[in-house]
Amino acid sequence: MTIGVKLETRNLKPEIPKLEKVPEHVAVIMDGNGRWANERGLPRLKGHEEGAQSVLAVLKAAKESGVNYLTLYAFSTENWNRPKDEVDGLMTLLATFMQKHARELLKNKIRLRVMGEVDRLPKAVQAGLIKLMKQSEKGYERTLIVALSYGSRKEIAESAKAIARKAAAGELDPETVTEETVAQHLYLPDVPDPELMIRTSGELRLSNFLLWQLSYAELYVTETYWPDFREKEFFQALESFGKRGRRFGGVVTQ
Ligand code: FPP
Repeated sequence: MTIGVKLETRNLKPEIPKLEKVPEHVAVIMDGNGRWANERGLPRLKGHEEGAQSVLAVLKAAKESGVNYLTLYAFSTENWNRPKDEVDGLMTLLATFMQKHARELLKNKIRLRVMGEVDRLPKAVQAGLIKLMKQSEKGYERTLIVALSYGSRKEIAESAKAIARKAAAGELDPETVTEETVAQHLYLPDVPDPELMIRTSGELRLSNFLLWQLSYAELYVTETYWPDFREKEFFQALESFGKRGRRFGGVVTQ
């Protein structure tokens, strides 16, 4: 499967809907890979492999619909507690994915960024990610952010730590700390907050994902498992977003 015009998906090519408004940034909790595999009598890793195909499909759909930032929750800090086989399999899958699709990501002007404890990842995975991050940091049109060994509370705690250090060093007056200061010390301070958060497989939880950044996001939960979430399903989420009146605590203006 490819991300560009050649891309073929399992479903027939869905129409790009006419969208009233398109979110600049969409974040996704890709859930249900294990259940997708279990229901087919397959090992869990097969679910993750099929989930990697959904990543390609959603990248293509994001490009076609004009979504500029896509953040995918690929591995949480809690995921280290999974059986070693599954963790190793996921790491290999990530490394292979980056290697196999590097050219295509670059051709499609997609910048790769990573958020999380990158230094906890196996050296080979780190090397592949760093290489592609460097290769893609110029001349890009869209950004793919992969959350890896990511936990939102840790991210916020790290922000607090950085601010406290600056205060202790006399570089910052604690009285001047605002929401903006905290946001500026998160992992990717230049990235706009997601306006839409999609969670697949029906769970109604945030699972320690972007707790700060999702404060005003619209939430979209679908029963569809991640390996079955393709272009059509992504467009449906965007259509749902397009119909929402976002108030930010005020009154509807649209
Ligand atoms: C959650 O499903 C999914 C994950 C922990 C891994 C997601 C990883 C991929 C889709 C691999 C490819 C990713 C990239 C960025 C190339 P689960 O295993 O918790 O499912 P379950 O709740 O049904 O058990």
